[in-house]
Amino acid sequence: MAFTAIILAAGKGSRMKSELPKVMHKVASAPLLSHIMNSAAQAGAQNTVVVVGHGAEMVSMAALALDDTAVIACQTEQRGTGHAVLQARAALAESEGSVIVLYGDTPFIKPETLESMLEAREAGNDVVVLGFTPENAEGYGRLVMNGDSLEAIVEHKDGTDEQRKIGFCNSGVVCADGANMLALLEQVGSNNANGEIYLTDIVAIARSAGQRCTAISCSEDETMGVNSRADLARAEAAFQARRRAEALENGTTLIAPETVFFARDTLVGADVEIEQNVVFGPGVTVENGAHIRAFCHLEGCHVSEGAVVGPYARLRPGAEIAEGGKIGNFVEIKNAVIGKKAKVNHLSYVGDADIGAETNIGAGVIFCNYDGVFKHHSTIGEKVFVGSNSAVISPVTIGDHALIGTGSVITKDVPEGDLVLARSQQLNKKGRGKRLMEILRAKKK
Ligand code: UD1
Ligand code: CA
Repeated sequence: MAFTAIILAAGKGSRMKSELPKVMHKVASAPLLSHIMNSAAQAGAQNTVVVVGHGAEMVSMAALALDDTAVIACQTEQRGTGHAVLQARAALAESEGSVIVLYGDTPFIKPETLESMLEAREAGNDVVVLGFTPENAEGYGRLVMNGDSLEAIVEHKDGTDEQRKIGFCNSGVVCADGANMLALLEQVGSNNANGEIYLTDIVAIARSAGQRCTAISCSEDETMGVNSRADLARAEAAFQARRRAEALENGTTLIAPETVFFARDTLVGADVEIEQNVVFGPGVTVENGAHIRAFCHLEGCHVSEGAVVGPYARLRPGAEIAEGGKIGNFVEIKNAVIGKKAKVNHLSYVGDADIGAETNIGAGVIFCNYDGVFKHHSTIGEKVFVGSNSAVISPVTIGDHALIGTGSVITKDVPEGDLVLARSQQLNKKGRGKRLMEILRAKKK
């Protein structure tokens, strides 16, 4: 369903004790802000407005990197949630249809929940608020209900003892028609305990104008906010627990789920097996039937069907492992394509290279891609055999079926099918070893 998302992200987050704006702190390798932007997009947000304030430049850049159509509104002084939404005045006025207010520091609201709010709007409610019933309601705004009708939201600080007994709380997420939200906000004053313009006040104003207001509810897990580093760690744990359960549900084998860490955008196919202690950074896709063995670290890479990675492998951005490829222990791959059924099984670095199908890269082969200033690329053909402990000084091209002798230092292109021995030749001297040892031992006496 099309709607406009307004995401409040102006707060400083002093309790984070950080130079970094709060919404830039990461959960599952992605800024907090990206989680909620992603949920909004999944629920069908057509326009997204991000209200920035503290660290405005950095937060705007991050928002635009995630969605280059995002609109940035600036709140220079933090005068309350209603005041923050008013900074998106133009978007409110121009929006055709519903607007949902979201929070950069509340990452886990599900797209389905936003869809339910939009459905409640379509069912004839003018204002729809997302509520939840926390274990401890202290500090939250309380939802004053009369049957299905939401009459008002009362902040904890402003509430009576009776109102503070209400367990149904405000998540802060609100949905209304844009122009209506703007008209309601323009009537909100700041006569409250904090002297702020509260977004929550629109409910009582809407009710007194005879509008229909209601609340739908979600679980406390969804409304979890991040205000401190401890919250951030809790959010990470909650994300990982959920993501691991999803992976198991979707047909991924996790031998020790509690030791596998996913990123927000990790994509894992069916029948993938992930062993113990595997960490996914951003931008990883693992296709059906691949096997990630213990102690691997992957980011910005693509592992195709039936490939085997690890144990102890590191795939860095741009690593592309084709079908049936094998990456073994203590191997690092960066910005390189490893062709179908090619093998890099032991102790190697492959950076800035294309490796053809069924090529074998021997133990300890190093691609010397960096001259200290520039990076260079090498291309290795199909069914090539690169002997152990060789160094490939990029840029070079090695043709199909070539055979590189162990310990070679490859500085020149190799034509298809050649045998290359690029190392000093072995010299054998008859009986000299034994004699030399005898001389040395005699000296020692
Ligand atoms: C708000 C709600 C409360 C709800 C709670 C849920 C109001 C008045 N109260 O209270 O009913 O139970 O959230 O967590 O809305 N922000 C800005 N600019 C501002 C003020 C806030 O961008 O001028 C952002 C903050 O960075 C934060 C969010 O809005 O991400 C919520 O603001 P906060 O001051 O924490 O509101 P609460 O007092 O928690
Ligand atoms: Ca808060």
